[in-house]
Amino acid sequence: MEIKRIAVIGAGTMGRGIAEVAAVAGLDVLIVEVSESQRKLSQTQVRKSIEQGVRAGKIFAGGGSGTTADAAAAADVISSRIIWTDDIDAAAMTKFVIEAVPEEESLKLDVFSRLDGVCPPTAILASNTSSISLTRLASATGRPDRVVGMHFFNPVPMMAPVEIVRAATTSEDTVETTRRLAEQMGKQAFVVQGRPGFVVNRVLMPLINEAAIALHEGVADAVTIDGLMKLGCNHPMGPLRLADLVGLDVCVSILHVLHRELGDKFCPCPLLIDMVQAGKLGRKSGEGFYKY
Ligand SMILES: NC(=O)c1ccc[n+]([C@@H]2O[C@H](COP(=O)([O-])OP(=O)(O)OC[C@H]3O[C@@H](n4cnc5c(N)ncnc54)[C@H](O)[C@@H]3O)[C@@H](O)[C@H]2O)c1
Repeated sequence: MEIKRIAVIGAGTMGRGIAEVAAVAGLDVLIVEVSESQRKLSQTQVRKSIEQGVRAGKIFAGGGSGTTADAAAAADVISSRIIWTDDIDAAAMTKFVIEAVPEEESLKLDVFSRLDGVCPPTAILASNTSSISLTRLASATGRPDRVVGMHFFNPVPMMAPVEIVRAATTSEDTVETTRRLAEQMGKQAFVVQGRPGFVVNRVLMPLINEAAIALHEGVADAVTIDGLMKLGCNHPMGPLRLADLVGLDVCVSILHVLHRELGDKFCPCPLLIDMVQAGKLGRKSGEGFYKY
């Protein structure tokens, strides 16, 4: 199945990045976002990000001599491939949908059941979930063979990999179509089984959690923990700064799922929970372990 148009549900950190890379790759994109303020913010951010990419030569838009006016014109063309709406029913004619709403199972189940009702029976419904069982999401639909995980990394325009996650029910055809779409979007696809947290979050979240526990216990301050992990482990960014980038609310949601499904070693650090309750979510709220 050739995909020329996709729908993205949710225009937060991930959804807007997914929409951007799809539009840059020449796909038409419908993006559904329920919050009007978030829709406007994301629309501006995507337009700006595309223009910066064109100006920096990272996005090739053809023609022009690289002036600011050329970059703006090229960004206009790419941005015009994205239609913004608050109406999920507008996804009715779409053959491939990528859901990127917050990491709450009940919300995702509701979105999947609504998509199942409006999309053509052959459409593939993908989720960008970080940890929720794809098999449970598939069971909310009448097409469990056509539900798959498509786990992008943050920030989507810069990060190469995508975990293509098989639910117990996902068909080989669905995996192959999803892999081809990821490659069409300029990404490198890795197919994994739908065990909790897949590969990256199962390995990464205990690291972030342990760094938060070390901070909580006063072993060292955030700058020291991050500095040591950067230089001592050759990581490009320390775990606490990375947690701020991912979103502390997202980290806690993933840890709750891993804790429930895989046991106590994933129990979220109380400091992380307190910070989320205090609205310190990282970059997106202006403060997390660091101020932005
Ligand atoms: N943030 C990350 O680094 C990261 C990385 C990989 C995967 N993920 C996963 O991607 C998903 C989205 O995460 P995010 O960080 O973009 O979250 P986010 O909170 O930044 O964005 C989610 C958006 O969905 C919107 N939304 C809520 N209900 C909706 C509905 N019914 N229809 C349409 N829009 C709706 C919200 O208003 C919000 O703008 C989660 O499952 C998360 O686990 C996140």
